[in-house]
Amino acid sequence: MESFVVYNPVRLKFGEGVTDTLAADLLEHGLQRVLVLVGKGSVRRSGLLDRLLDQMRGQGLEVEVFEGIRSNPVYEDADRAVSQAKSMGAQALLAVGGGSVIDTAKAVAAGYYTEHSVWDFYAGGAPKPSRALPLFVVLTLAATGTEMNRATVLQNNATGQKRGWGNELLFPKISYLDPLLTQTVPRDYTAYGVADLMAHALEQYFSPDESPLSDAFALQVLRQAMIYGARAVYNGQDTEARSQVLWLSTVALNGTLIAGKKRGDFGVHAVEHVLSARYDVAHGAGLSVVYPAWIKHFAPRIRAKLEALEDACSGWRATHPDPQIRTAPAVVGDPDLPFVGMLEDFFEQIGTPTRLSQMGIPVEECAPLVADLHRHNATGNYFEMKEPDWQRLVQLMY
Ligand code: NZQ
Ligand code: ZN
Repeated sequence: MESFVVYNPVRLKFGEGVTDTLAADLLEHGLQRVLVLVGKGSVRRSGLLDRLLDQMRGQGLEVEVFEGIRSNPVYEDADRAVSQAKSMGAQALLAVGGGSVIDTAKAVAAGYYTEHSVWDFYAGGAPKPSRALPLFVVLTLAATGTEMNRATVLQNNATGQKRGWGNELLFPKISYLDPLLTQTVPRDYTAYGVADLMAHALEQYFSPDESPLSDAFALQVLRQAMIYGARAVYNGQDTEARSQVLWLSTVALNGTLIAGKKRGDFGVHAVEHVLSARYDVAHGAGLSVVYPAWIKHFAPRIRAKLEALEDACSGWRATHPDPQIRTAPAVVGDPDLPFVGMLEDFFEQIGTPTRLSQMGIPVEECAPLVADLHRHNATGNYFEMKEPDWQRLVQLMY
């Protein structure tokens, strides 16, 4: 077993109505002036933003809103939000939305105490921050796990880079997870979120470091993600399914699955970040294309792990609420790689792509995509990739 540290200071409030204590919690922390960060409009349309603003202003808090953070978030939005936070003298940040809003807010939290662009943190040129604004999070989409971790991922469109960065100061103070708030997530993003949480479990599971307990957790996260993920996509109002998927997505990247190992591989994420930066595809959609291809490519090195995956995940169809899907024969695919067939079948069933062509990326993109993977050195921590690997991987993605 590897040496490891467990540290996760996030207070997580989970369940229906948990945001009711938001204003009181901020006041209890001595925080009066809050900048609220939101995305393109979903939280306005659902009425959530107005409810939260009413609650905070009703209890005497001074609140401003920074609106319009895009999916695959860019550092320029974070720099603009830093300016607004400084000019209002914000004492805290509240992110209301999915991973893109939360990751932007993490950048703002650290950027508040500096004079340089937040991008310098991601590019590696800035000193480690010594302070950050306290961050509170109301999560509206089950996917990334950012609500309970120290990581943030932003994009620089000028350089074509999508980069992650982490620091302990970026752990949210409190994250509010109300499954009802995820019921408005459309079918496609629900599916992408399930693909993302499964990818997180796989990245850590495929780390060769020995930690059987973490591997057992990862296998269960994957199995339950397939069962409840299929249900949540089938019926977005299925509160039980939404609740389970929400908790699974948090557990998949909050440290639980990595204890006892040095780190995850995250090579599939490295490749996906190149796809997102190049084609602006949704993160989970990119992952559901890359993962089956990556497993096919590295299969000879992960045989035993694939067998355990097959055992853990088979039978997800038998729990599906739709009798037609429940009784349909399982799609086999390559008989030598049954887990890949199962995974592709599952992704297709929930409606997330498994081929680049399904995302409208033509085959002529093969060579420039390989060149980009090379340029950004898209590789894993354990499963190293170089030119021939990227070439094969891209072929397998078509
Ligand atoms: O912008 P709005 O209008 O809010 O709409 C969003 C967006 O269009 C919508 N949405 C969110 N909650 C909703 C909703 N629509 C209806 N009802 C709701 N309740 O969903 C769309 C996608 O939102 P986004 O935040 O982009 O998705 P996600 O949560 O999947 O976040 C993806 C980002 O997180 C990064 C990804 O790279 C990507 O940039 N990641 C962050 C990680 C981390 N910090 O630990 C790890 C991940 O591996 C990932 O890299
Ligand atoms: Zn991810």
